[in-house]
Amino acid sequence: MLELDNVSIAYNGVKAVKGVSISVVEGSLVTLIGSNGAGKTSLLRAISGLVKVSGGEITFKGTRITNERPNKIVAQRLVHCPEGRHVFPRLSVEENLRAGSHVSRKTSAQVMGEVYALFPRLEERRRQLGQSLSGGEQQMLAIGRALMAQPRMLLLDEPSLGLAPLAVQSVFDAIERIKSLGTTVLLVEQNAHLALKVSDYAYVLERGSLRLQGPSAELADSEEVRKAYLGI
Ligand SMILES: Nc1ncnc2c1ncn2[C@@H]1O[C@H](COP(=O)(O)OP(=O)(O)OP(=O)(O)O)[C@@H](O)[C@H]1O
Ligand SMILES: [Mg+2]
Repeated sequence: MLELDNVSIAYNGVKAVKGVSISVVEGSLVTLIGSNGAGKTSLLRAISGLVKVSGGEITFKGTRITNERPNKIVAQRLVHCPEGRHVFPRLSVEENLRAGSHVSRKTSAQVMGEVYALFPRLEERRRQLGQSLSGGEQQMLAIGRALMAQPRMLLLDEPSLGLAPLAVQSVFDAIERIKSLGTTVLLVEQNAHLALKVSDYAYVLERGSLRLQGPSAELADSEEVRKAYLGI
């Protein structure tokens, strides 16, 4: 469904991502793990057109989207839920959700119903301001807002960052439900343990290059991953 072929990204001439090839099969949940500064966010931003790639090609459902404008990419229902959540603090939950919608009010109301079914907590708090939500609720809102664009494929950047263990678990539960409802997911995570548990296939990025890849269950068992990312 999504193919990255030999993608490189440079900032002021310095390469942050060096010739990375990734493929995500429709209906699967693929994770990209790696330590700070490995280039994970840069890759997601390149896929959604927020940074330019300096080399390589990106294709989504057979269409070349390399360096395409972000609104064109969202229109193909390839949707990015950014690192750091970026909830609008002074807007209500419902207004935050509406901001993610690109369709008519009627369709939007229907999709919002689906988001509330997935996150009942958001419905209970729909008049509450974004800034008054807990970290876990803000993450749910950020995911919910991305879902308002009815993604065929969702890019999730570190949804568990900074959350307490219970909130982390509920975010991962939600990711599994989103997948089971038919959305393809590319998940960037530093929580390698949980990411490998919920995903089908995994890539390990190190200083801008792919270091390992394979079915998640196999990677979780590999000596190298256990030592470097699972602390075992
Ligand atoms: N806008 C930018 N300008 C210059 N350098 C950047 C920019 N964004 C990222 N970089 C650099 O690119 C490299 C990869 O950063 P990136 O944010 O993609 O890593 P990451 O894997 O997402 O890290 P983290 O786990 O900390 O979120 C880093 O060395 C970073 O300093
Ligand atoms: Mg990042």
